[in-house]
Amino acid sequence: MSLASLFQRPVTGGNARANAYRSELRGIVARYRRHKAVWDPHLAETKGIVRDAVALCPGRNRVVVLGSGPLLDVPLDDLLKTFREVVLVDIVHPMALRLRGLLSRQLHVLAIDLTGIGTQPLSAQRRYEPPSMPPADLVISLNLMSQLPIVPLNLLDKQGVEEEDADRFAKRLIAAHYKWLRNQPGQVCLITDVERIVYDLEGKKVMSFDPTYGIPLPEGGTEWEWAMAPVGEIAADGALHHRVRGYPDLAAALAG
Ligand SMILES: C[S@@+](CC[C@H](N)C(=O)[O-])C[C@H]1O[C@@H](n2cnc3c(N)ncnc32)[C@H](O)[C@@H]1O
Repeated sequence: MSLASLFQRPVTGGNARANAYRSELRGIVARYRRHKAVWDPHLAETKGIVRDAVALCPGRNRVVVLGSGPLLDVPLDDLLKTFREVVLVDIVHPMALRLRGLLSRQLHVLAIDLTGIGTQPLSAQRRYEPPSMPPADLVISLNLMSQLPIVPLNLLDKQGVEEEDADRFAKRLIAAHYKWLRNQPGQVCLITDVERIVYDLEGKKVMSFDPTYGIPLPEGGTEWEWAMAPVGEIAADGALHHRVRGYPDLAAALAG
């Protein structure tokens, strides 16, 4: 498969879905601006895992970054210095980045729905297959895996889909991405949140949730906590943190 063929792929089906993803992108940037001080340590940790992955990777031909978004957590200059081709994949990209991609032979900016839903009708009962990609020396799944069900789940909720069906659907999307990663021929770096924690105003943990829906990730990796939404961002009486885990080389972690 050529990179050029991927440019032809439709981004997403239906305006509601496309608008929801654009609004998510704007939301990430706005939240970062509001909470830069508490987001920066998380972004630095993420970039550190990506740099570790690059250092371990023997190939220098192509790197693919999945979930590149507004590039807050992507050490793009390092990737451009290291790899002959840098491919950034997200369902929506900032306009300036798309233009930069069009003007570059080295940087490819691809708008692809990584759930595989694309323009197909959205249904909680259907199985969707992640799209195929050209092989890469290094594939980086960057704070993306747990995000894959979010927009589809919001839309399914509006359609009145039962919670159990919605949960099964979300787990299938995440499991399909994880399986796809494990089947890649090159090195895979996985960075994902593994727990979402709600704290009250005293800093006491009041609730937590597994955003991977129980996908059995390997032991090891490096973990940190990200104060994603400090008090006042989502709720006046609580904060939402993400516990994030990064594996520079997923196959090595799986091999134990
Ligand atoms: C938490 S953000 C990742 C952080 C991002 N790298 C940054 O710079 O902040 C999740 C990213 O996943 C992307 N995303 C969510 N669902 C997607 C899908 N179905 N296909 C491709 N990208 C998706 C979002 O657009 C967003 O950019």
